[in-house]
Amino acid sequence: MFTIITGSQFGDEGKGKIVDLMTKDYDMIVRFQGGDNAGHTVVVNGKKYKLHLTPSGVLQDARLLIGPGTVVNPQTLSQEFDMLSDNGINVDEHKLGIDAKTSIIMPYHVELDGLRESARTDKIGTTKRGIGYAYIDKVARDEIQMADLASEEQLRNRLNEIRPMKEAQIKELNGNPSIMKDETWIKTYCDLGRRFAPYITDVSFEVNNALDKGKKILAEGAQGTYLDVIHGTSKFVTSSSCIAGSACANLGVGPTRVDQVIGIVKAYITRVGEGPLPTELKDSTGDLIRQAGGEFGTTTGRPRRCGWFDLPLAKKAVALNGYTDLVLTKMDVLSSIHPIRICVAYELDGKKLDYPPESTSDLARCIPVYKDMAGWDEDLTGIRNVNDLPDEALAYIEKLRSLINVPFKYISVGPDREQTFTN
Ligand code: IMP
Repeated sequence: MFTIITGSQFGDEGKGKIVDLMTKDYDMIVRFQGGDNAGHTVVVNGKKYKLHLTPSGVLQDARLLIGPGTVVNPQTLSQEFDMLSDNGINVDEHKLGIDAKTSIIMPYHVELDGLRESARTDKIGTTKRGIGYAYIDKVARDEIQMADLASEEQLRNRLNEIRPMKEAQIKELNGNPSIMKDETWIKTYCDLGRRFAPYITDVSFEVNNALDKGKKILAEGAQGTYLDVIHGTSKFVTSSSCIAGSACANLGVGPTRVDQVIGIVKAYITRVGEGPLPTELKDSTGDLIRQAGGEFGTTTGRPRRCGWFDLPLAKKAVALNGYTDLVLTKMDVLSSIHPIRICVAYELDGKKLDYPPESTSDLARCIPVYKDMAGWDEDLTGIRNVNDLPDEALAYIEKLRSLINVPFKYISVGPDREQTFTN
């Protein structure tokens, strides 16, 4: 059984919580793209765990894998393992594997990301984690892979080979190229290489082998559909492919093996960083949603931009990912908002559009067409059964379900595992 979970909006839909919840039914949880630009908060018994690289299933029994399509900052991973160990959760090589071909985020990638973002007049608002530059090196075949990191000799040879080119790139962006010869981080990276050497594995082999034995695998996406480097709102996107098909390509699993594709969709929409967000609320309702939903970035702490549910974007996300099921999250956040609006279409140059225009600049000019729904005042966080929801909340869920035309597998009314029920 092979299930893929992706975010259907701009990331931060609550994937971490849902993966954590579903892990008990799976044997393996696999990350297939992105790096520590992602952040997921998992809450168990009131305790919050903020993770960036470790797959969300770490708090359960499944085997965890980090696939070769991800970009790993070993310093972040090491800090996460230490934090988890301080909380009594031991992440050893039996628990987690990292593919030998995984790209490593190097300090010069972080440096270049920061320099490039500062130099842009029209900013992307990256997380400044070096993600884009690590992926550039992968495509340019100048990356350091996990297997290189694990061997000091190989790491130093690779660094010697690419050093002149990196120095030139840093200089061109008015940075200080001395970072390329700084032994402090090179020694730290050699130590990290030794620490992670036992974790090295062949992810494609492990996943295919497990599927052959009838095991259950969950591929966990990071970011969200509209941050996809190919199909997202470019240039305001991340540097990896975040849609479901990317799981197959990045993990080396054939598309014929996919059984289920689950999309996580928030009851409203948020975006962090720049780029179009047609239903953005720049008023007190937007502030209310941000505060009630705790809509501040897990990685950067930036306030997230908040807006009404956007149906055209949801429809395209269903097409891009081929969702078989959806999970609706953060319904509790909409309590006490009257009315609640759903963007059912856009208006662009006098025409009505049911589907987003392909060009990002056209999307930025779209004016939402809304359908208003009655709100409710009840607090939903204590509800554990769909039938106990207020009539207005039920009507809102039913409206979304019928408009999107994909079943809701779960409804979520809070961050804890218990605050989730089937529809
Ligand atoms: P980068 O991935 O750091 O290069 O950032 C590119 C864009 O993706 C920026 O707008 C970021 O704010 C956004 N982004 C990256 N990771 C996440 C995430 O996990 N959640 C939401 N937005 C993200």
